[in-house]
Amino acid sequence: MSYSISERVVFMCGIVGFVGKSDGVNFILDGLKSLNYRGYDSAGISVFDENSKFKIIKKCGKLEVLSTAIKNQKTVFGNCVLGHTRWATHGAPSDVNAHPIAVKDVAVVHNGIIENFLNLKKFLKSEGYFFATETDTEVVAALIDYFYDGKNCIDAILKAASKFEGSYALGIVFQNKPDAIFALRKGSSLNVGFGENENYISSDILAFRGKTKRYSILDENEICVLTAGSVDFFNFNLEKIEKPVLEIDCSFDEADKGQFDSFMLKEIHDQPEVVRECFSSRINASDISFEIDEISNDWFTQFKRIQIVACGTAMHAGLFGKQLIEKIAKLPVEVSIASEFRYCDPVLLKHDLVIVVSQSGETADSLAALRLAKAKGVATLGVVNVEQSSIAREADKVVLTKAGPEIAVASTKAFTAQLAVFCLLSLKFAKELKAISCEEFLKYCEELIEVPARMEQMLNCKNEAFKLAGQVYKTNNLFFIGRGSDYYLSLEGSLKLKELSYIHSEAYAAGELKHGTISLIEDGFLVIATATQSLVFMKTLSNVKEVKARGAKVLLICKENSEIEQNLADFIFKIPNVTDLQAPFCIAVFMQLFAYKIAVLRGRDVDMPRNLAKSVTVE
Ligand code: M6R
Repeated sequence: MSYSISERVVFMCGIVGFVGKSDGVNFILDGLKSLNYRGYDSAGISVFDENSKFKIIKKCGKLEVLSTAIKNQKTVFGNCVLGHTRWATHGAPSDVNAHPIAVKDVAVVHNGIIENFLNLKKFLKSEGYFFATETDTEVVAALIDYFYDGKNCIDAILKAASKFEGSYALGIVFQNKPDAIFALRKGSSLNVGFGENENYISSDILAFRGKTKRYSILDENEICVLTAGSVDFFNFNLEKIEKPVLEIDCSFDEADKGQFDSFMLKEIHDQPEVVRECFSSRINASDISFEIDEISNDWFTQFKRIQIVACGTAMHAGLFGKQLIEKIAKLPVEVSIASEFRYCDPVLLKHDLVIVVSQSGETADSLAALRLAKAKGVATLGVVNVEQSSIAREADKVVLTKAGPEIAVASTKAFTAQLAVFCLLSLKFAKELKAISCEEFLKYCEELIEVPARMEQMLNCKNEAFKLAGQVYKTNNLFFIGRGSDYYLSLEGSLKLKELSYIHSEAYAAGELKHGTISLIEDGFLVIATATQSLVFMKTLSNVKEVKARGAKVLLICKENSEIEQNLADFIFKIPNVTDLQAPFCIAVFMQLFAYKIAVLRGRDVDMPRNLAKSVTVE
């Protein structure tokens, strides 16, 4: 189930373009619909009217609002159409700030941020341009128009692009060239799809569904010109380039909700199969092998320290990885938040390995951290879900998490797949570094092989998790506590709950509470304590007693055979009798189901929480 829908989750906005001989408006609307998981607050399209003038329809709100606005106008069709979903950065979500944005002869859809737009705007104002929006995108359109001589479109675009600082993927149309779309990228990404007498662009190849499986990835500093019958690629020096044509090798059906109400619930249920595939394809008789054959056994023995860099959920998986690699392979590991790592002038040493973890492979800070590590001459490894993403393509080595398309904004199956990959990496490092015996290695592998069945057991207890969610969903503040991997899973549980339900929650290392935070505990304050790790089990129970004594209401997550004093907790959720290594996978499922149900009970949009985007490609 290797997921190679390339550049699938690339930018926080979404671009779709169509140029052909028939009407492209429905294709654009369907395409935008397939990008709507990315998070957006407004949407729009541009076509050419019967006089070859721009007709732009754009609306703040959901795609349905745009569709209705289009239906209300009788004659909206065209064979050169640009569409866009906008996730506001510069300027509030509004009709006027939505894209496409036209300035005189040029209309533009844009993903990314032009960092020097204020300076450019000042210059353009001095040249007589008037600005109707608060966006950086209007500056893009105006600057291209400024350089446009009425004939040479590419020249104008490249002259303008040479002035932009920041990142962008752009789809551009010109008033007097109503049969062509121009597309370029720098720092963001864009795909080009090839059809019969029509061609397309999109931020996500999901938008090509039903039209084509043949596509190319527009690479950094490349521009292309699409007409109904041709697609020409150039570099920014205007040299023509040949691009490999790729085939989408994953069924579009994988990106369907199936029988489930939401992508998130479907993706939670995908997990046993994802983890099974991850383990069964890599664990063989007495070894672990990753399909990338350049990773030789010797490769694993050359590092003295590992730096894991990631954001959000992927960073939580990294914390889990740190603990495991240190425990099993005895290699020192540090974990950094990518947005901190990239600006803290990190000390990277000759024998360091930097592991960048990312579902999308496009997260701006993680990608920048990878580039920084490479610039400092350090070995890099990407642990990535999207095979054709920037991180997967730029890292020296890649281990794919093989979770398949993850559509819901909240990461679920990509997270447990990251945990699975870290289990495999820890064991592989340990084996090659001879940090564990053959027997220990095999015992750990057997434990891993059992994990998917344990996750299935967890899914079978779904109603119990939902019932607990029902008992506490009105809470407005809570803590998650745990130690070791229970703490890392608490961090993840807390993040899941926050992003989905908008309830304020924090996760703490259980032993840290009495250094300040415990002052917040008062009668009825909800604390979710996870205690599954044998070494610290009793310690966590002591922390539970501390909060209980101060009036907290406690939900305790422990193993089925854990001995718990009566009245220690108000609610108990028991995961199966699993090993310490297996427990995090079970806890992850509980945390996800719990957060999902609370969000549903509070009437939230679980697939598209407010203010969030699937892939954070701005820093
Ligand atoms: O695509 P990435 O794994 O690099 O994304 C990192 C975070 O943005 C992501 O995990 C985010 O925290 C999720 N919304 C969490 O559910």
